[in-house]
Amino acid sequence: MATARRPLVAGNWKMNGLAAAVAELDKMIAGARDLSAVTDLMVCPPATLVAAFAARARGTPIAIGGQDCHAEPAGAFTGDISAEMLRDAGAVAVIVGHSERRTYHRETDADVRAKCSAAWRAGLTAILCVGETKNERLAGRTLEVVGTQLTGSVPPGAGAANLVIAYEPVWAIGSGLTPTVADVAEVHGFIRERLANLASADVRALYGGSVKPSNAKELMGVPNVDGALVGGASLTAADFLGIAGAYRR
Ligand code: PGA
Repeated sequence: MATARRPLVAGNWKMNGLAAAVAELDKMIAGARDLSAVTDLMVCPPATLVAAFAARARGTPIAIGGQDCHAEPAGAFTGDISAEMLRDAGAVAVIVGHSERRTYHRETDADVRAKCSAAWRAGLTAILCVGETKNERLAGRTLEVVGTQLTGSVPPGAGAANLVIAYEPVWAIGSGLTPTVADVAEVHGFIRERLANLASADVRALYGGSVKPSNAKELMGVPNVDGALVGGASLTAADFLGIAGAYRR
């Protein structure tokens, strides 16, 4: 199905990467030039590397994002980072509501919604993650769960410029397992319908969970999939660029 939405392939480095990893970013930048005609590219390194990566990537096709932000702009929140700080460091986007944040930091839809609003306040695009657990899928509750997450975590005022949704089945993250093409199509079709009501029809919806160069073309070819949020395979330029290469004509 043809879409007017420009694809986005975003890498979520999670808690990986020391200063020397800038060499990998350099390789990504070198390989990104001919891909920028067909897809947007983003790398979300750990907070410690955001400023260095943003400085390195300035003026290149690779945008830099954060992985989480606090809802407040500043204050007594030891260890936290605000959306304004990410913006100040050169980020243009921030992931919110990743299932690892929802699980390990007990973030609720209300928390995610506040973080999304914080991202917008700072002028960042929010990459908002939703997705069901294995038990929820087995119980046939996938669409209900994703629908509740979308309704509960997308604030009013969402549009193509400030919001990207990432559908990431929790059981597919880091597991090497992926849903079938039909399952991805079903959920993305549902998300597309919800976005038409909740936000703008132009908001992009990415797929995430065990995306690799070998399955990227198939997954990126599913109707209403507008790109990928990539974890493990985004740590090396070869795999990240291999995934983005799915969009090469
Ligand atoms: P994965 O992670 O690609 O390593 O499965 C995806 C994510 O958590 O965003």
